[in-house]
Amino acid sequence: MNSDMAAETKGTAKLTLPSGKESNLPVIVGSENESAVDIRALRAETGFITLDTGYMNTGSTTSAITYLDGEQGILRYRGYSIEELAEKSDFVETSYLLINGQLPNKQQREAFGQQLTRHSLIHEDMHHFFNGYPQTAHPMAVLSSMVTSMSTYYPDTMDRNSDIDLHITRILSKVRTLAAFAYKKSIGQPLMYPKNSLKYCANFLHMMFAVPSEEYVVSPIFEKAVNQLFILHADHEQNCSTSTVRMVGSSGANLYASIAAGVLALWGPLHGGANQAVIEMLEEVKASGIDGKKFIEDVKNKKDNRRLMGFGHRVYKNFDPRAKILKKMCDEVLTHMGVTDPLLDIAKSMEEVALKDDYFISKKLYPNVDFYSGIIYRALGIPTNMFTVMFALGRLPGWIAHWKEMVEDKDTKIGRPRQIYTGPTERKYVPLDQR
Ligand code: CMC
Repeated sequence: MNSDMAAETKGTAKLTLPSGKESNLPVIVGSENESAVDIRALRAETGFITLDTGYMNTGSTTSAITYLDGEQGILRYRGYSIEELAEKSDFVETSYLLINGQLPNKQQREAFGQQLTRHSLIHEDMHHFFNGYPQTAHPMAVLSSMVTSMSTYYPDTMDRNSDIDLHITRILSKVRTLAAFAYKKSIGQPLMYPKNSLKYCANFLHMMFAVPSEEYVVSPIFEKAVNQLFILHADHEQNCSTSTVRMVGSSGANLYASIAAGVLALWGPLHGGANQAVIEMLEEVKASGIDGKKFIEDVKNKKDNRRLMGFGHRVYKNFDPRAKILKKMCDEVLTHMGVTDPLLDIAKSMEEVALKDDYFISKKLYPNVDFYSGIIYRALGIPTNMFTVMFALGRLPGWIAHWKEMVEDKDTKIGRPRQIYTGPTERKYVPLDQR
């Protein structure tokens, strides 16, 4: 068990099989009273497996990192509420918390920040890799390949006894540099090296937006917004990309390989790619001149399998606490910058229509973290195809924390689900000339 407070066994659940045979399955209860029927011995005892497509009801692990209550709209990292962390913490401190389990003291915070600063450069040879991609390459494809490539520069990562903390520092610091370099390459500008005098998020903005010919001063509003956005994205327990990181890591694959797999899982439009898809949807509504209501009618009629991007969540069935913070933040950032964005008005009116509509109410579909984040990124000058990269940068400490928890857990087994086979039963091979 890897939880801070190990999950307890409290009673049993009785399962009666078609043969009348009964199986008593232990009931496991976590620190927030979440309960699970422990089926680990089910197949050995009964020959049965469970079927749960999309793992809607399956706990793949115990974990002490993040608590999420989708009905109440609660999200806490290591016990601290997302609202409090977004308001009072910064991304580096939150990363330390997720990875190490506790908030750092002053000395630990300083040392962690210094380590991240020291490891921000990438090997010079890696710069050539960027030249090999077409200018139109999606930055998520570039990022995932670059993260995999990092393992070639640190071959000791194959050894589970190597310095894991050092690899963690490296990946947390360098992925930010890789992301900014990928952007600079895509627009044909010279790469901007990290500046040691800048903090984590400010340094990222510097690498993204500075040019050698001018002085670039990082706006404190931008820096705060990026810190908050990254904190809100930092972890979300066993979501698709984090489960992918754990699954890949469970085979013994190294940290870089596991994180690269997480980047790829995040890319899909139903997951992290939704922030890009939201802006594309809002732009489509604006360009077509139809109002949001008509678009929502098409969604309800499932025209072309349309979905209201940025709405709905596998776990949140009341509201997504991150979306609440982001909506407020979106207004604040835009007002502060004196920016008006017609897409924000369209988004707000579509949200208003959807929240009153029976289709969305009955299916418990509410705005999620991606509905407003793209509008903030746009205001900060981040191009649309970099939005999911921003999500990846934010999610990095969560992936790392889960990978670490998994490798340190003596109960970890290689992830290997079963299936119910529905193909043909055994048949004889027919030679080609007789078919
Ligand atoms: N617009 C319209 N209908 C929807 C939507 C939506 N955004 N989301 C779900 N539905 C409908 C869906 O068509 C289905 O209807 P029916 O029962 O008639 O077939 C029902 O609601 C249940 O949907 P589901 O796909 O079975 O639900 P899920 O829990 O498997 O999917 C989801 C969750 C996030 C993939 C889905 O809500 C979705 O596709 N949302 C849009 C994409 C999006 O915004 N993704 C970002 C998620 S938050 C960031 C992250 O953590 O990844």
